[in-house]
Amino acid sequence: MKTTQDFRKMKEDNDPIVMITAYDAPSASLAEEAGADVLLVGDSLGMVVLGYDSTVQVTVEDMIYHTKAVKRGTDSIFTVTDIPFMAAHISTEHALKASADVMQKSGADAVKIEGSGPVIDIINRLTEGGVPVVSHLGLTPQTVGVEGGYRVQGKTEESKKKLLEDAAAVEKAGACMLVLECVPEETARLVQEELTIPVIGIGAGRFTDGQVLVYHDIIGYYGGHTPKFVKQYTDIRPVIHDALSAFKEDVKEKRFPEEAHVFKPYGEKK
Ligand code: KIV
Ligand code: NA
Repeated sequence: MKTTQDFRKMKEDNDPIVMITAYDAPSASLAEEAGADVLLVGDSLGMVVLGYDSTVQVTVEDMIYHTKAVKRGTDSIFTVTDIPFMAAHISTEHALKASADVMQKSGADAVKIEGSGPVIDIINRLTEGGVPVVSHLGLTPQTVGVEGGYRVQGKTEESKKKLLEDAAAVEKAGACMLVLECVPEETARLVQEELTIPVIGIGAGRFTDGQVLVYHDIIGYYGGHTPKFVKQYTDIRPVIHDALSAFKEDVKEKRFPEEAHVFKPYGEKK
């Protein structure tokens, strides 16, 4: 398994880090087989798997349940689990307890926490306690209610300066990696240059140390909105739709099961 040290080395060597989200055993094993360096059990699971309209409803228990499935589906791949909204932002104590629970009960190798400000103290305390923390800055979907929508961050001089300060602060607090979401390419490049920890971009342009996309977006498995920054590599929904429809037709038309699918008593030829 690659470690946080390996990821730093990859940054130094300009070797792009591949992160893919995963939510269950089959998605995780396919991502591992494809050669991902890191898996992220993202709270995007609220939308792409659980059918919520944002990540806000996702609980710590949901994250533990799905991370356990991811771990069962993989051999040895560094797995990061999101600390969901309510746990991360109610209080420092909540965040520490949630992170401890995730680490102990799910087998995650690191936790990811959105934001800066009061979160800096949480990152500090977790890393001092031996819990690797991935930070998440730029667009932070958990606070979309306060921001008033999903918007590109760090566009103005002022917000760019704030983002650079926040990025430096999470590194100083001990974060082992930074996920940077929806910021202009040039801003992301400055963050990448400034930090010694790897910066993994999503909608952050071409100059970050790695890239992450949501599994369902890569394969076209999510029926909802697909953001501009996504590259969809295949369109799996019509494939699934056609297969399920064909099954339905076969049953209706009594074409399934066929001879090949039925069991025979002992002594009779298959
Ligand atoms: O929840 C998630 O999938 C994420 C990624 C989009 C970075 O946080
Ligand atoms: Na997330």
